[in-house]
Order: sequence, then C-alpha cells, then structure tokens
Amino acid sequence: MQYLVQPGGALRGRLRVPGDKSISHRAVILGALAEGVTEVRGLLEGADVLATIAAFRAMGVEIEGPREGWLRIHGVGLRGLQAPQAPLDCGNSGTAMRLLAGVLAGQPFASSLTGDESLQRRPMGRVIDPLQAMGARITSKEGRAPLQIEGATLHGIDYVLPMASAQVKSAILLAGLYAEGRTCVQEPAPTRDHSERMLRGFGYTLEQEPLRACLQGGGALQGQAIDVPADISSATFFLLGATIAPDSDLLLENVGINPTRTGVIEILTRMGARIDLTQLREVGGEPVADIRVRSAKLQGIDIPPRLVPLAIDEFPAIFVAAACAEGQTRVREAAELRVKESDRIAVMAAGLRSLGIKVEESADGALIHGGSLTGGTVDSHGDHRIAMSFAMAALRSQEPIQILDCENVATSFPTFPELARQAGLDLAQVNP
Ligand code: S3P
Repeated sequence: MQYLVQPGGALRGRLRVPGDKSISHRAVILGALAEGVTEVRGLLEGADVLATIAAFRAMGVEIEGPREGWLRIHGVGLRGLQAPQAPLDCGNSGTAMRLLAGVLAGQPFASSLTGDESLQRRPMGRVIDPLQAMGARITSKEGRAPLQIEGATLHGIDYVLPMASAQVKSAILLAGLYAEGRTCVQEPAPTRDHSERMLRGFGYTLEQEPLRACLQGGGALQGQAIDVPADISSATFFLLGATIAPDSDLLLENVGINPTRTGVIEILTRMGARIDLTQLREVGGEPVADIRVRSAKLQGIDIPPRLVPLAIDEFPAIFVAAACAEGQTRVREAAELRVKESDRIAVMAAGLRSLGIKVEESADGALIHGGSLTGGTVDSHGDHRIAMSFAMAALRSQEPIQILDCENVATSFPTFPELARQAGLDLAQVNP
C-alpha cells in the first residue's frame, strides 16, 4: 500500500492519538503473568501489540477483547503459562520479541520466537547474551531470529548494558522474575522506564537508583486496572506537521509525557517549535498532558547526544523537521537508529535526498541541510515511522509526495490516515 499526499495545507483542531505502544505491550505481558484480572483501557490495537496478545493466548492465557482499547486479561501467575504448540510470531515487533525472550527464558518448557523479514534482520544477541549469562538456553541464527528457547533454571545477574536499550533492560528484568536471587541492570543512559513503573504498579518490589534497577526473583504480580496514555511517539507526527505547516494550531489530548520519552519536545523546542503542555496530571503511574502545537519557523541545531535515547523513535520526524529548518542540523551518537525497523539513518537520508534535501550521512548520524522540499517518491522500506514522517513532509513540499510500502503503519498507528485527514492532511491510500 502506498500513500499519495498532496502538498500544502495546515493541521488544526484537537485529536487523541492511540495508546502508547510500549506501555500496551507491558500491560499485556504483566497482566498475563499476574494473579487475578487485569483490565486495560486505552490499549493500542496495533499489529505489534496484537502479536503479543496472540503469543500469550497461545500459552493458555484467556484474554477478552481488544475492543475500542479495552482488554481484559485473566492472569495465570508467573508459573501458569503453558507450552505453545507452534512458534510465536512477533511480526514486525522488536519489543514483543525481546521482552518475550526474557519471559520465556525461565519457563519449564521449550518455545520459539519468529518474526517478519525486518525483525529477522535485527540484532538479538543483545538479549541472548545476558539471558545466557543467567543460565538460559537459547539458540539463534547467528544472533538473529528465529530463536529457540529451551526451558532452564535461571540465576540472577548484575548486568551492565552495553547500549542504551529499554528492550534489553526489560528482557533482563522479566527474566529476573524467574531467577534465583537478585537481578540488577545498569544502563549507560536513561531509557524508557515503563517496565519499572508497571512492575511496581503490579506490586513487585524494585530497588531503583539512577541508571540502575534491581529485583529479587520469586515474587508475585497482582492484576491491575491500567489506563494507557496516548503515545507520544505517534503524537510526534502531528507535532512535526503542525510545526512545519503555516497556520496550524493543534491540540493533542492525553499524551504520555514520561520524562524518558520527551526528548522530541526538547529537540523541537530548541529548534524553535511552539509546543505547550497543559493539564499536567498523573494517570496510572505515568505523567500525562494535553499538548498544544502551533506553526513555527525552525532553526537547525546540533542535537545534544544525551537527548538521543530520550527521542530514539522520533528521529524520522526530527529529520523532516531538520529538512524544513533554516541552516544545518547535526545528529550524532545515534548508531542505534541503524538497527530499528529499518536503517533509519540510511532510509531517511535517501528519502530526503529524493525530495531535494542535502544530507551527509555518518556512521552514527547525519548532517541535514535545511532547504525546500520538492516532492517526489520516497521508499519507506516498510518502516512505519518513516512512512508517517514523509506523509507530514508534504505539508511543506511543492509537489505531491508518494510514499511506498506503507502497510506497516498498522503496527503502531492503524488510524493514522484517518486522523491525519481529519486534522487537514490531504492523504490518499493507494493500492498499486
Ligand atoms: C522500546 C524500546 C526502544 C524503542 C522501541 C520500543 C520499548 O527500543 O525504539 O520502539 O518498548 O522498550 P530499544 O530498546 O531497542 O532502544
């Protein structure tokens, strides 16, 4: 499926983007492993989260829904999962595969994890290594999926993460629930802490210091009611669009603003964006706000590397913002972007170049020269966030933008075309 987006227009009104993907995965996982019922509202019904739901159903967990963001999970307790009869298919989802690997490593049964072409190219050694150090028995295709996981008895470890990755941190903490003794993870920079917050919400004791979390195996999780805020990573496309399109004024409701996720707000604000947070509140252990964004003139900046992990999923949108800014924007210490759903440095550089923007690529980032977007055809390489970012770029292009390979938008934001049109983007979906 392709998008054909007409140039120009403005984004106006108010809208609520779907639930946070990271929090939705974790709600399903902890709900399944808890004792009693977990009821979720605001769940993201994207393909990635549906893969996690299907995996737990395949392991004997009864799950009602999802319906309009509602889900009821009948938790089986930490020891209640049953052996799946077939490989668990994580689709396009790195979060599903890495977090499930953590859960499955400590089960008394064998299982296997697989995924689509993109997921089979992504590095899994980063979870296999620490899990093996805990006693897990995992085989892979040279550090890539499919993964075969044999049942094993785990022991705690004290693990220093070699990269800033919330997925790896979470996989180890989940395995730690099954391990004898204490499991600690230490990260080189702050990454999203939804697992830590939700584990505590489910009544699990966690010792936390800055950049470090520890837990003792053998406890229990208690089923909870969970309200999932709107996903700031999905809101980002609208922050981008309303900033770059003249005469825009948009209100995004109920967005999660966990400080480990708000790097994009800081980066866009430093570039000159007009973004205001109102109605700040806390919902289910996560900070939430309404976000107002209005058109602004952007300036290129040198993006501080400390903000990279805090905006890790937002770089496709930030690259487009940089293309619309005056002057140069430098991204560095962002090599992790090369191992996302696509190589986001290479794919964004190629896409922007085909729209007439000068981009110099480096191993760990890029230098983007602000300019004017012509229009033309870009290949998203099946990367949802790249497809949505280029759709917004049309608000400032001279000619239409055609975007190839957009079906994976359904992994994180199935209602994107609808909501974007409602806000004022002239987007058509085309089946070639
Ligand atoms: C996620 C962590 C990040 C992020 C991904 C979701 C999570 O990945 O890019 O979209 O839910 O924990 P890494 O841990 O690989 O940085």
